[in-house]
Formats: sequence, structure tokens, C-alpha cells
Amino acid sequence: MVASGIAVGTVGIASDHAGFELKAVLREQLGEMGVEVIDFGTNSPESVDYPDFADALASAMKDGRASRGILICGTGIGIAMAANRHKNMRAATCHDTTDARLARQHNDANVLALGARTMGPEVAQDCVRVFLNTAFEGDTNPRHARRIAKMS
Ligand code: RB5
Repeated sequence: MVASGIAVGTVGIASDHAGFELKAVLREQLGEMGVEVIDFGTNSPESVDYPDFADALASAMKDGRASRGILICGTGIGIAMAANRHKNMRAATCHDTTDARLARQHNDANVLALGARTMGPEVAQDCVRVFLNTAFEGDTNPRHARRIAKMS
């Protein structure tokens, strides 16, 4: 997909049981946006452990199968914590489009983490749209790039 001049490669999406319904909504949205998606589960309300799904996405992003990710759990907190244990991941828990925009512009977040129990589907969809259409500002603001480099 290319929107607002930004090319987005394959997006990996994953959730735990708390997030699987919102994941289905966001998958449909990504399809409508023309974004290629890989779904790493889970696909039922049966209780699972969110780190397993963050790990599956991390491994896909590490080997290049996905360039960005969307993770969903009840709050977007636990699954982001699990994702950020991986060196290649910069997961940002976002509650609104301002979070999503700044996570891209300042933090070069490559994973959007959302809470299915703390936001409605429309807000989540807005966050996805902004997250995928906002560029990192590291080129024009070297301080952002320097700070990201310190985390690598
Ligand atoms: C699962 O009940 C819940 O704890 C999980 O989805 C998440 O919110 C953890 O951060």
C-alpha cells in the first residue's frame, strides 16, 4: 500500500483472546486499505498467553516476513511489554490518533499495540490509519534518530 506517499509493506497482526474480535475488524480494514496482512492468531475466545503472539510477530519482523505490526490484548500493555523484549521491536501502546501519530513521528514505532477492552473499534481503526500513514521524522529531526539509535 502507498498512502500519503508512504509505502507500507506486509503488516503482521496478532492478539490474545481479549483482542481477537478487534483483530478481525482491523484485518478487514487493512484488506480495504489494500495492505497485505499476515495473521498470527489467536482466533478464538479460548484463553491464551499474549507473549506467545508478540513473539510470533517479532520473529516474522526479524526475518522480513512483515515490516510493521499490530498487536492487540485487553489493554495493549502486556502485549507491548512482551514485544519490546525483542531488540527489533518498537511497540507503542496507543489510545488515540495523537499517540499513533507521535509514536511514528518521534519514536519510529514499528508496532502499534491496542487495547480491545479500553477502546472502541472506530478509535482503533483511526489509530491504524494514522499509524500506517505517518512517517518517522528522523530525517528532518536528527535528535529523533539519535534517540532511536540509543535503544538499538
Ligand atoms: C487477558 O485477560 C489480559 O490480561 C490481557 O489481554 C492483557 O490485557 C494484558 O496486558
